[in-house]
Amino acid sequence: MRSILSIAILAGVALAQDLSSLLTSNEDTTQLATLLGQYPGLLNQINNQPNLTILAPSNQALTIFLDTPFGASLATSDPGIFVAVLQYHILQGTYPGSALGEASIFLPTILGNESYTNVTPVQVVQAVSQDDDAEEADVRFISGLGQSSTVVRADVNYTNGIVHVIDTVLTIPADIVTTLVAGNLSSLAGVLNETDLLPTVNTLQDITVFAPNNAAFQSIGSALQNLTTDDISDILLYHVVNGTVGYSSMLEDGMNLTTANGEDLTIHIEGDSVFVNGAEVVQADILVANGVVHVIDNVLNPESPTASPSASATSGMPNFSGASSATEPPYTSGVPSPTTTLGGGADEPADTGSGGADASPTDTEGAAMPIRTQAVGVIGAAALFGAGVAFMGV
Ligand SMILES: *[C@@H]1O[C@H](CO)[C@@H](O)[C@H](O)[C@H]1NC(C)=O
Ligand SMILES: *[C@@H]1O[C@H](CO)[C@@H](O)[C@H](O)[C@H]1NC(C)=O
Ligand SMILES: *[C@@H]1O[C@H](CO)[C@@H](O)[C@H](O)[C@H]1NC(C)=O
Ligand SMILES: *[C@@H]1O[C@H](CO)[C@@H](O)[C@H](O)[C@H]1NC(C)=O
Ligand SMILES: *[C@@H]1O[C@H](CO)[C@@H](O)[C@H](O)[C@H]1NC(C)=O
Ligand SMILES: *[C@@H]1O[C@H](CO)[C@@H](O)[C@H](O)[C@H]1NC(C)=O
Ligand SMILES: *[C@@H]1O[C@H](CO)[C@@H](O)[C@H](O)[C@H]1NC(C)=O
Ligand SMILES: *[C@@H]1O[C@H](CO)[C@@H](O)[C@H](O)[C@H]1NC(C)=O
Ligand SMILES: *[C@@H]1O[C@H](CO)[C@@H](O)[C@H](O)[C@H]1NC(C)=O
Repeated sequence: MRSILSIAILAGVALAQDLSSLLTSNEDTTQLATLLGQYPGLLNQINNQPNLTILAPSNQALTIFLDTPFGASLATSDPGIFVAVLQYHILQGTYPGSALGEASIFLPTILGNESYTNVTPVQVVQAVSQDDDAEEADVRFISGLGQSSTVVRADVNYTNGIVHVIDTVLTIPADIVTTLVAGNLSSLAGVLNETDLLPTVNTLQDITVFAPNNAAFQSIGSALQNLTTDDISDILLYHVVNGTVGYSSMLEDGMNLTTANGEDLTIHIEGDSVFVNGAEVVQADILVANGVVHVIDNVLNPESPTASPSASATSGMPNFSGASSATEPPYTSGVPSPTTTLGGGADEPADTGSGGADASPTDTEGAAMPIRTQAVGVIGAAALFGAGVAFMGV
């Protein structure tokens, strides 16, 4: 009797279980099992689809998330959002920890619902593994608003694939406005708003935005003052690539990308640094609802599309002749104050700098904030849920 029981237990451990059984039998994922159990359609889809990787928030991660005002409001504000959040945690493909390296890769999820994402065919999660001489590689998944989730238990197999238990709920990439405001990119948010380009940039599908930081706008303040609104719109559209989501893993030296003003810009890779024309990417790969944002250290000038970094450049160069600095970052007066910041996670902020970009998410506060997009436009969680959206640090 006893030996039969032992054999059964051993067999139970050795044989792959279905996802629900696996999540239920691991004491740190029981809450996810319960939550998934409430969505039989989704569970059915998972059980019928081979070759998946499940990023399973631990019980602690789910508790923290559901305790935030945003998490707590989900059930009443938008019942469908739970399904979207769960879909965003399911990757198409089997990715054991050993398949992830120091170079970032962008993995397709099963979240393609247009109510929550405006990239085709599906929204992605960034994966990166840092081998910091510890016994185990430090595997992280980076989602919207620079949210970093660390794998606390890797490579638990179930019948159709692999589960990695993570310490923080992933954030569905937010819209451009929410992301720019959270990222302290208030000059860009403000000038897009003043030129009425914000709705356009927010609703284009599959875009790459090279987002000059506030210092970039401030450094050419005098030149901006002399430009017409049309000139400024032209400059802004030169920072937007329409129809291509250029994650850092896709950017190559010498690559030309056609922008929304019709002119090309050119990628230059110098050692560990990525430049676009003469400006350096200082924070790469902030995932947004409709694509990706790379923060750059200078404003690009469509009049000089051939600008390029000087030999052995360690930063970008302004490209507006005779410009002098303003005393404050321009265009910021009407921009709301951020209610959340980039780079949350239960752990240290991740270095998202694939492609060598010097990425430094700005804060360690939790910022789990999925958004819902609408047919007419993408709405930020702050707009949907009121200005009181604020997130507890973890
Ligand atoms: C997409 O999300 C919306 C809003 O939650 C929901 O009503 C709809 O059923 C979802 N569509 C699919 C295909 O899951
Ligand atoms: C499973 O996913 C991996 C990673 O995307 C892929 O290389 C592999 O071909 C897939 N296998 C099947 C059977 O679809
Ligand atoms: C888990 O799955 C991976 C990939 O499918 C496979 O390489 C590995 O051998 C499996 N591990 C166990 C313990 O079955
Ligand atoms: C802006 O215009 C002012 C007044 O016409 C002129 O003095 C200044 O040089 C111009 N600045 C730039 C950067 O073009
Ligand atoms: C990019 O454009 C420049 C200038 O038009 C051209 O010289 C170069 O060959 C292009 N690069 C590629 C990879 O097509
Ligand atoms: C962006 O691309 C779409 C699809 O090609 C096109 O319909 C739209 O006019 C473009 N918008 C801009 C501003 O370039
Ligand atoms: C822009 O940069 C290029 C070098 O990359 C330089 O030749 C050109 O003079 C610069 N233009 C201005 C207006 O600074
Ligand atoms: C856009 O401008 C309006 C009017 O000045 C302002 O109320 C709003 O906060 C601005 N939004 C952003 C994102 O700058
Ligand atoms: C955001 O910008 C403000 C004003 O430019 C600055 O004081 C603050 O330090 C910045 N915060 C971060 C996290 O970069």
